[in-house]
Amino acid sequence: MANEKDVLVQIRNLYVTYGTRLGSVSAVDDVSFDIYRGEILGLVGESGCGKSTLGKALMRMIKSPGEITGGQVIFNGEDIMEYSDKQMRDFRGRRTSMIFQDPMTSLNPVQRVDEHMIEAIEVHEPKTKKANITDRITSLIERLGIQKRRLTDYPHQLSGGMRQRVMVGLGLVLNAHLIIADEATTSLDVIVEANLVDQLREIRDEFGVTILMITHNIALVAEIADRIAVMYAGRFAEIGPINDVFEDPMHPYTQGLLRSVPSIRLDDQEELYKMPGEPPNLTQPPSGCRFHPRCPQAIPICARIQPELLETKQGRLVNCWLFQDQPEEAAHPIMVTA
Ligand SMILES: Nc1ncnc2c1ncn2[C@@H]1O[C@H](COP(=O)(O)OP(=O)(O)OP(=O)(O)O)[C@@H](O)[C@H]1O
Ligand SMILES: [Mg+2]
Repeated sequence: MANEKDVLVQIRNLYVTYGTRLGSVSAVDDVSFDIYRGEILGLVGESGCGKSTLGKALMRMIKSPGEITGGQVIFNGEDIMEYSDKQMRDFRGRRTSMIFQDPMTSLNPVQRVDEHMIEAIEVHEPKTKKANITDRITSLIERLGIQKRRLTDYPHQLSGGMRQRVMVGLGLVLNAHLIIADEATTSLDVIVEANLVDQLREIRDEFGVTILMITHNIALVAEIADRIAVMYAGRFAEIGPINDVFEDPMHPYTQGLLRSVPSIRLDDQEELYKMPGEPPNLTQPPSGCRFHPRCPQAIPICARIQPELLETKQGRLVNCWLFQDQPEEAAHPIMVTA
């Protein structure tokens, strides 16, 4: 159960909005959840539902016109929203690491692999002896399956998979506690992708690092994650252990999402499910439950009042009126008074 786990990050009532000409985009809306130490948490949901925004908000990396408009991110017991800019820079460098689809945007093209790593150590741990730095990066890079002679390569000389491993190494060299991988495997071919995924799991086992894996690829999450968090229009629909959610998805959105993945829930004969409708415009999200206009199981209260992400009897977190008590007045919408 959740309260028996060791929690690394507690996210409480987090809001992120983007100011645009067409109005304010409510990209993360009152999101609260915990990330357990040492877990691999898969974060999935349709394009534009707020996955990357949430990932960046956990490191306070939201840039204008975006803004964190409320909430707390408590990391190892400290609310990083209270940190100064200097504390924040140190926190980002040492405690977390974010890996994106294109590692070339994060790597310096004129810096060798070893120089990236040396610089990271020198900036954040200036007292480290030079000989120790060399030993540390050599053993780390070999543990990541990269030959040490590659340390003198420039990023463009490496394959896509190797570059992502270097990115992982840049986090691990400073003992990052949390790695956020945002579509980190999307541009790799399937074999390289599978290798990287295996390796991420091994890294978690060996280093005890926590991984938040953001992806469209639900099959990938099935392979690697301990828990899955399903996001819809800036909120969580459902969070639970991977096998439980795949065997018995509770939120109607999760049910639709899993039925639309051929390799997981369908045998070859069955027709692929197509979720009706489109994700909402987040400048004017639907009232009540944001999924209600597309939900095949919606009941009247869904259009009016937002449900909460609550723990069900099965220990699953589900944000749906079908699994929680309705307020008295909503259960009896047509009351005739004398
Ligand atoms: N810089 C920005 N300016 C305005 N709106 C933005 C900006 N970045 C994101 N948004 C909006 O915020 C919402 C969430 O976007 P986000 O990129 O977090 O979604 P995502 O789930 O990561 O999508 P994808 O799967 O396509 O990567 C979307 O409606 C998007 O249009
Ligand atoms: Mg994204």
